[in-house]
Amino acid sequence: MARAARGFRCRECGWATPAYVGRCAQCQAWNTLDQFTETQRSGPARSAGVVVPGRTVRLADVPDEPGRRLSTEIPEFDRVLGGGLVPGSLVLVGGDPGIGKSTLMLQAAARLAQRGTVVAYVCGEESPRQVRLRATRLGVGEAPVTLIPESSLDAALAAAEGAGASVVIIDSIQSVYVEGLDTRSGGPAQLSEAGARLVAFSKTNEITTIVTGHVTKSGEIAGPRLLEHLVDAVLYFENAEGGSVRVLRAIKNRFGATDEVGVFEMTGEGLQSVENPSSALLESHDADASGCAVTAVIEGSRPLALEVQALAVPTNLASPRRIASGLETSRLHLLLAVLARRGGVNTGAMDVVASVSGGMRLRDTGADLAILAALASAASDQPLPRATACLGEVALSGAVRPVHQAQRRLAELSRVGFKRCLVPNGTPAVDGIVLIPVRNVRDALQSLHR
Ligand code: TYD
Ligand code: MG
Repeated sequence: MARAARGFRCRECGWATPAYVGRCAQCQAWNTLDQFTETQRSGPARSAGVVVPGRTVRLADVPDEPGRRLSTEIPEFDRVLGGGLVPGSLVLVGGDPGIGKSTLMLQAAARLAQRGTVVAYVCGEESPRQVRLRATRLGVGEAPVTLIPESSLDAALAAAEGAGASVVIIDSIQSVYVEGLDTRSGGPAQLSEAGARLVAFSKTNEITTIVTGHVTKSGEIAGPRLLEHLVDAVLYFENAEGGSVRVLRAIKNRFGATDEVGVFEMTGEGLQSVENPSSALLESHDADASGCAVTAVIEGSRPLALEVQALAVPTNLASPRRIASGLETSRLHLLLAVLARRGGVNTGAMDVVASVSGGMRLRDTGADLAILAALASAASDQPLPRATACLGEVALSGAVRPVHQAQRRLAELSRVGFKRCLVPNGTPAVDGIVLIPVRNVRDALQSLHR
């Protein structure tokens, strides 16, 4: 069936909508799902030659409300959202199972509810009993949150609307299904249909809707990635391997900066916002271990200092192993090639492992020099000089290129106790940290000898 022919009509005024909405946005009449579904089955919207005109709204008549935000009172969650929840927005929170999505959602729901916002929590994945246990553990067992133990999406949304909710949390998208489609819940058809209904629901009713979704490490095709283009904001928990640091990143945000990260710590009382993320990410930094290099990256609107760790061990394998976590394997290959050709450090007979502290995913090319330094240090098993950080993008020619916002990065490194930093030639001075300008990889490796 063609996409244009699908949809629902209001039984009172005939208003057309691509997805089920409890109350008609045109005439405010209530429609039950049965009536909607009937309409859809008996009369495809445009097949009879009768075209119902769409709704028009004058731009100037739309209320002008800049910056209206609903704070979740979880500082790092608000930061990733761009300053709080935007009323009527649709947010996707994804991540590996067990990373803390439900915990964060329940904490946010409780805080909002405690301040008088009506919050409905659709717990498709857990029973109300399990949710209550978790809430008690989080110290918010008495919060006035409305639970909806429902796995039919339409029924859940109707219940949330009936409860007068202005924030709806759906945990998770894989655990709800759209009635009338005979594909399995969590499959591609279900997800895209559920997404379309959620968009219509949040926009027509101005109800802020947050959906969680599991993303497997392999980035499962039928995962919530299908919803990314539909929603207003996509936040993913980056996978933390071990450790209690959890990083939530905005992959997309119509109302805030992308690549903004929130840093949390998983404690016995749920996720706590980390006030000083650089220090948390450097917590396990051991200045006397080989293969460890520190740099500062720009994530969204703030600089963060973090550590790159590498290990290189001799191997007899014909094709030595290259394992990267938190950075692309292709980038590891590239930097190893530059290191060999331009720096004279050959790792051809070694297995190489590289990772980033706190499970952060490195996107910023300004970290190249630090990765390279960590690899060189690992290959020679010589630690890098103490309190010395590295900043710079590395070109195939071996040249060390400037990074953007170098001043802010250097100020952050200085703040967390770094005294010296290798920087691309021409970087302006910053108080409190000695700059060691380098032109290329060879210069850099010379400056890094202890
Ligand atoms: P959860 O929020 O259930 O993950 P998701 O919804 O992403 O699958 O997180 C569960 C993990 O967090 C589980 O391993 C237990 C741990 N946890 C704590 O360490 N402290 C807590 O207070 C809570 C509620 C969970
Ligand atoms: Mg969960």
